[in-house]
Amino acid sequence: AFPEALAACADLDALLRLKGAYVGREGSHAARLMELLKAAPKEQKRELGAAANALKTQWEEGLRTRQAELEEARKRAAALASGWDPTLPPPVPAQGALHPLNRLMDRLVDVFRPLGYHVEEGPEAETEEHNFDGLNIPEDHPARGSADTFYFRQGGGLLLRTHTSPVQVRVLKRIGAKGPDGLSELERSGGIRFLAPGRVYRKDEIDPTHSPMFHQVEGMLVGKGIGMHHLKGTLSYAMKALFGPGADVRFRPSYFPFVEPGAEMDVRCPLCGGSGCRVCKGSGWVELLGAGLIHPNVLAYAGIDPAVWSGFAFGMGVERTAMMVSQTPDLRLFFENDQRFLNSMGGLD
Ligand code: PHE
Repeated sequence: AFPEALAACADLDALLRLKGAYVGREGSHAARLMELLKAAPKEQKRELGAAANALKTQWEEGLRTRQAELEEARKRAAALASGWDPTLPPPVPAQGALHPLNRLMDRLVDVFRPLGYHVEEGPEAETEEHNFDGLNIPEDHPARGSADTFYFRQGGGLLLRTHTSPVQVRVLKRIGAKGPDGLSELERSGGIRFLAPGRVYRKDEIDPTHSPMFHQVEGMLVGKGIGMHHLKGTLSYAMKALFGPGADVRFRPSYFPFVEPGAEMDVRCPLCGGSGCRVCKGSGWVELLGAGLIHPNVLAYAGIDPAVWSGFAFGMGVERTAMMVSQTPDLRLFFENDQRFLNSMGGLD
């Protein structure tokens, strides 16, 4: 019978022979049925025709299903014979991922966000006004020279920003501007806290600790009655969140035209733990950022009354921090994009 004959077909050839025998145009069971039907008495034709069609449909469906099975089996056999194993999982395509420097900046933002800081941005092609003037940097300051700063050749006084501090000037001008109600955004909000991560540029030769393009994260807080204790407390907290509860920091007096007093913050060298090594040049400490209380001239430049408002600012080197967290000896590794290096940088999350 048909079901047994169908199951007995071990390959496509046998199946095609069975197909011919059952539903072929001539001499098949189906053709024979049609002849019988033609010869049948008229009043039985309708009933017999329906039965014959049902039978033929059943054969055709059975043949189609079995043919598909046999074709699949033949493909699999051919693939196996060619050495390809279709039961292996497919190859996983390489996935894109954030660069370790971006991941570290994201982490810094995550540390400060619960303290009420949001992210501000500014352009990398800046004006002298934002990069220098608004930051109380004198006309004759060496950083303004073309030996240190990349200037655009054609006009406009545009340059590649040498630090993220011009974002301070942009934000201060924005929140210091009086609105239609005579109040500034700063007066309405009572204060502001933000981070400004981004790329900066300086004319430095490339070596293991310098690059003409690098990253900084600027931080700023403006409020009333802000002092060095707020700055120290905030940064000490942030460094513990970043490096772990054992993180040790120290502040040294320093000078930047846009802060007064100014300071530099060091962290205890994570490589040698303070006993002195190549990374900290024997001192046991690594400089991480410049900081200080916002200079009254910077507030006044943006139209903010320094007799009412005060605040702090800091600017942190991202590559420096990344090198310490990941114990990477050469900053150039961050820019060469060797996948083996990038994939080894799990510690920056
Ligand atoms: N802009 C300074 C630099 O690039 C860092 C800094 C930022 C210092 C904010 C004080 C306050 O070195």
